[in-house]
Amino acid sequence: MKITFYGHASLGIQIEDINILVDPFISANPKASSIDINTLKADYILITHAHQDHIVDVEAIAKRTGAIVVSNFEIVSHFETIGIKGHPMNHGGKWNFDFGTVKYVNAIHTSSFPDGSYGGQPGGFVIETKHKNIYIAGDTALTYDMKLIPLQTKLDLAILPIGDNFTMGIDDAILASDFVECDKILGYHFDTFGYIEINHEDAKQKFSKKSKDLILLDIGDSIKL
Ligand code: NI
Ligand code: MN
Repeated sequence: MKITFYGHASLGIQIEDINILVDPFISANPKASSIDINTLKADYILITHAHQDHIVDVEAIAKRTGAIVVSNFEIVSHFETIGIKGHPMNHGGKWNFDFGTVKYVNAIHTSSFPDGSYGGQPGGFVIETKHKNIYIAGDTALTYDMKLIPLQTKLDLAILPIGDNFTMGIDDAILASDFVECDKILGYHFDTFGYIEINHEDAKQKFSKKSKDLILLDIGDSIKL
């Protein structure tokens, strides 16, 4: 499994020959100007919630690639009205895709579309594949529901928001990594705008003091699991 950071909460996940994009917000992110959305491959687009900073490039990429949108029922219904294929889910539900299973799990946040219309309830994803398992938290507060995840899934990586203000900050993300029982963390949802700027070295030190590894990727960089 290869995971590429496209800035903010946008990720590319390559599982064998299948390409998944998560929460594409790239063309409207000045920090991600090195990424051309027209070059991104996508068989699936996973969307955690309807906020603009998670969906801005969904339409363009889905229409170019024919990717299937995977999200909550309301978000999938919204994209189906503009001709985009989708796979609707809701909290607690799991589905077996050709790359592995996806479970839509709880997040504590909000989920309106940019025009104010209802975007269902926000979520995160637990992805299990033949070789590796990951958790993409989405925008969320720290929540005890995270403790449910390791009851069923041994995670290899937890992708957690760390920018604070709109989501968990660093201290809560450390507790979240305890809750999900995973000491390898990819931080996201930081530095994009003023409210969520963080000190990278302080963040890494705080995690390493708890014997945890916080990975912060430059935009366009990847890790392999
Ligand atoms: Ni949000
Ligand atoms: Mn967000």
